[in-house]
Amino acid sequence: MKGAICAAIAAGAIAMDATAAISVVPMPNKVTELGGFCLATNVTIETLTDASIPAEGYTLKVTEDGSVKIASSGDAGRFYAMITLEQLTKDGKVPCVEIEDAPRFKWRGLHFDDCRHFMGKETLMKTLDAMAYHKLNVFHWHLTEDQGWRIEIKKYPLLTAKGAVRPGSPKPAVLKKPGETGQDGTGWVNNNIEYGPFFYTQDDVREIVAYAQNLHITVVPEIELPGHALAAISAYPELGCTGEQFTPWTRWGVSEHIFCGGNDKVISFLEDVIDEVCELFPGPIVHIGGDEAPKKAWRKCPKCQARINELGLDGEEGLQGWMTRHFTEYLAKKGRRAIGWDEVLDGNPGKDTIIMSWRGPEGGIKAAARGNDAVMCPVNPCYLDIEQGIDEDPCEYINYGFKLPLELCYGFDPAAGIPEDQQKHILGGQGNNWTEYTWNGSEFEWKVWPRMSAIAECLWTEKKNKDWQNFSQRIVPLRKSLVKRFRINASPLR
Ligand code: ACM
Ligand code: ZN
Repeated sequence: MKGAICAAIAAGAIAMDATAAISVVPMPNKVTELGGFCLATNVTIETLTDASIPAEGYTLKVTEDGSVKIASSGDAGRFYAMITLEQLTKDGKVPCVEIEDAPRFKWRGLHFDDCRHFMGKETLMKTLDAMAYHKLNVFHWHLTEDQGWRIEIKKYPLLTAKGAVRPGSPKPAVLKKPGETGQDGTGWVNNNIEYGPFFYTQDDVREIVAYAQNLHITVVPEIELPGHALAAISAYPELGCTGEQFTPWTRWGVSEHIFCGGNDKVISFLEDVIDEVCELFPGPIVHIGGDEAPKKAWRKCPKCQARINELGLDGEEGLQGWMTRHFTEYLAKKGRRAIGWDEVLDGNPGKDTIIMSWRGPEGGIKAAARGNDAVMCPVNPCYLDIEQGIDEDPCEYINYGFKLPLELCYGFDPAAGIPEDQQKHILGGQGNNWTEYTWNGSEFEWKVWPRMSAIAECLWTEKKNKDWQNFSQRIVPLRKSLVKRFRINASPLR
């Protein structure tokens, strides 16, 4: 029997048996099992600082006498060592082990859409806890949209008084009555139930940012410009090209009513918003959106056309490029870097703008080639609002035309297709969830976890140390912890 097992291991049928006792996600990069264990109630933890250990990295040694030695160059590494120790501990025992670990990428993120449906503070805090447990370190907070403006801005109170309320929401197809037609060609209809006001006060934001900081998570706030702006324009119609009064959108899709790029008052408004945002968020990066900005209104707007002519810009794309450069420079004066969705590449941004590649990897590949840093989150395999291919899934999904099971997420490699000498520009990646058809936190959690666990491993663990068979075993207890300890409504493993 023993011989048969050895033969199976040699043939690769039992993967990575050497780490069988090490059920940690993401998999640490160098693990040496020393044999034996100590009791968790009997450990003495000693921590020391070693400047030669990479940022966020750590070493951890557990021996049978209960000695636990942790070394790191900073607090984050020490924090991650403690998480590893916690995950190593099973049934009151800690396996004796020596670990040397550091992340593959420095941007290990999760995108959280609070706009289409408001997820709220409780779900948000739980998400941060679960992120930290996976050594994820960037919380990309999508705060403004066509469907809702979710952050209090003191200078513009109508943003939340009006922009955080919509007259209705899309309702699930299962509730559609016979004969009802969809608004947007997808079969979805407006439920006509007022939704909101839902938003975060500045006190809420400060509390959330501090909570995240404690978990070594940087919050990157996103203020969308020039598109996805209908909620703001509904609050202050003069921010649009026509001055028309709208309401925040009740349906999914992309509104063609975007911030007027030719009106100086719009530029000052956005600067004022950014001023308050920078006061609230101490992190080094602010997301300025830039995706899906239809130019129909700009083509007809005398102010937008005047700015294009006056500055000799290359049409409407040039005007968006001018806005991207303006706000990148505005943020730089405040000591911050701008990041934008990959469409901002069309406007020839400066080298300091970070590109978030979502339509595919091409944006990130192009960014790295021209010397811009990039964060990778291509729809396939990073969009966690895509159907996950599990049996009996009660959630509604947007139809992207394919399914995204756990194993596909595990195949994510942010550096794929990037020439080696340009890989330094790939800061990392993230999983993205959008909440048009996600009505509450419980559905959000179902869609995100455990697929986000797979993405977390792709962002932390070196490619050579990843192994799908081994991950499929480690994810079982990890999912149980998500459910029991973090009260996360993680979906089942098939
Ligand atoms: C996006 O999915 N529109 C960034
Ligand atoms: Zn305009």
